[in-house]
Amino acid sequence: MHADAKITTIEGLAQGDNLHPMQAAFVAHDAFQCGYCTPGQICSAVGLVNEGHAKSDADIKELMSGNICRCGAYPNIVDAVRDVLEGKKDAAV
Ligand code: FES
Repeated sequence: MHADAKITTIEGLAQGDNLHPMQAAFVAHDAFQCGYCTPGQICSAVGLVNEGHAKSDADIKELMSGNICRCGAYPNIVDAVRDVLEGKKDAAV
């Protein structure tokens, strides 16, 4: 289904030793605990910002709702995404 599509995984976000702004925001906000869900959370968050549909915390929560974090890091995840969304960190890939 995605034979010719460009797909960026978590490994493709950082530029060498420089974290992607969303990765840096997750670190800054301690937005993970076990880390199992983190690659999916960050990739979804980058897509969310790039699509430009989120205007509020409620939008962030709704658009991230497909990603389950059993640790309950949701408030910190929302804080990290909001920082990037508000331009506190540049989310451009
Ligand atoms: S950080 Fe543990 S499931 Fe998300």
